[in-house]
Amino acid sequence: MRALIEELCGVFGPSGQEERVREAIVNHLDGLVDEIRTDRLGNLIAVKHPAAGGEKGKRIMLAAHMDEIGIMVTHVDAQGFCRFTTIGGVLTNSLIGSRVHFANGVEGAFGLEGSPLTRDRPTPQKLFLDVGADSKEDARVQVGDSAVFRSSFGAVGDRLLAPNLDDRIGCAVLIQTLRELESSPHELLAVFTAQEEVGTRGAATAGYGLEPEIILAIDVTATGDFPQATPMEVALGKGPAIKVMDRRMISHPKIRGWLENTARANDIPYQLEVLEFGSTDASAVQVSRAGVPAGTVSIPCRYVHTPSQMADYNDACGAVRLLVSALGEEYPR
Ligand code: ZN
Ligand code: CO
Repeated sequence: MRALIEELCGVFGPSGQEERVREAIVNHLDGLVDEIRTDRLGNLIAVKHPAAGGEKGKRIMLAAHMDEIGIMVTHVDAQGFCRFTTIGGVLTNSLIGSRVHFANGVEGAFGLEGSPLTRDRPTPQKLFLDVGADSKEDARVQVGDSAVFRSSFGAVGDRLLAPNLDDRIGCAVLIQTLRELESSPHELLAVFTAQEEVGTRGAATAGYGLEPEIILAIDVTATGDFPQATPMEVALGKGPAIKVMDRRMISHPKIRGWLENTARANDIPYQLEVLEFGSTDASAVQVSRAGVPAGTVSIPCRYVHTPSQMADYNDACGAVRLLVSALGEEYPR
């Protein structure tokens, strides 16, 4: 799975332009599922029918988002410098020193108006993007073009570093789960969603259309394990996190219990997650139609929504084990 995470992190895919990620994922789904389709919003939907005798199974939607945060050009000046807006929750004070990559291969660096010694917090209005051009014509990018953060994939032991572990690591966990799951009594609706970072839009429509009985999101979560972090129990390397609550969702107690009991029964280390900011695709599906019981399996990740996100490979492996164990059994009565 490590090679898969690295491969997916190398693919361009800001919100609304998930095609390349979709293509990369489709290649890995061959032979793993019974149906594959792309819906009107760009969600990739892979369906695995229940094993024979699966009348007791549930329709379970599993969601991992394909899109990543980035920037979009709003103006190119006569000298070729670009102004931009953010796609998703980009932390603008992490932009200086980071590099972006456009779909056509153009790269850019961020600059800040004024003296480099200024102590001002870089607001988006004072930042610009330098794509190495001398004029507007020379810039090779135009208003409406999107770019993503790019730096080489890194690993320090089992700690992985990439600008978009959110949520390519979740996509890899979902693919690996399908690989390892020999049979399931459930109808599995594996959805690689579009436009999560701009407000869980793909999950909202996919969840409505698929009418799942249970929604499980697979996404990253923040941690409280670095200097002066906001107190939070989740740490890297202590196993996947089972979400209790975040800003837009309270997990269904039965789903949370199901996941916790499965982890305990299989000796899978896990953590309980209470996230005070952010949410996942599960929150959109939870309130779809007449309501869908929801839960989330999270991969702890430091520096989420910055160009250098860090996660522990063992937590991703634990997430796969937890999902394979849970989905391979009947849902508790
Ligand atoms: Zn995410
Ligand atoms: Co995110």
